[in-house]
Amino acid sequence: MKELNAFELNENMISTIGKEWMLVTAGDETNCNTMTVSWGGVGILWNKPVVYTFIRPQRYTYEFLESCEYYTMSAYPDEYRAALKLCGTKSGRDIDKAAQTGLTPVFDEKAPYFSQARLVLVCRKMYVQDLCEAGALDKSILANYHGDDYHRMYVSEIEKVLVNE
Ligand SMILES: Cc1cc2nc3c(=O)[nH]c(=O)nc-3n(C[C@H](O)[C@H](O)[C@H](O)COP(=O)(O)O)c2cc1C
Repeated sequence: MKELNAFELNENMISTIGKEWMLVTAGDETNCNTMTVSWGGVGILWNKPVVYTFIRPQRYTYEFLESCEYYTMSAYPDEYRAALKLCGTKSGRDIDKAAQTGLTPVFDEKAPYFSQARLVLVCRKMYVQDLCEAGALDKSILANYHGDDYHRMYVSEIEKVLVNE
């Protein structure tokens, strides 16, 4: 993997996250988990390159994001679409996602990712806040929520960008 400066990241991240989807992965060699996300963003805050990641509290991955300082967001070539579908429809509470998808976990950074990734963002949590009903200026947003399942927003510094050449 080649390391890039976040400012050299030269792709449309709206499309990468929203259309291609990404995996959010956290944990360590003893226990880790991954899930698919298609909501989120990349930008600048507090003079740092950041990602905005939105995770509902019922996800198993949420437990890892809560207990770890670091996580990765990673994107994959088209051929892994089915793997990303599985990681977005099954829970790591019930299955071993790496075993079922054939994705190979790599632990050489501060958070795990998979060797098949074409792009990896190593993210350090800086700020969390739960979305809430009172914040919904556009009430149509609330159709996405049923009870108390508001996403937790993580604003995280992009400490490292890795690309598979
Ligand atoms: C395309 C796609 C995008 C998703 N985006 C998100 C997201 O941004 N935030 C979220 O909390 N869940 C999202 N999910 C749902 C989780 O990926 C899904 O519930 C997953 O099974 C959770 O796995 P876990 O319990 O092992 O953490 C998405 C699912 C799919 C298929």
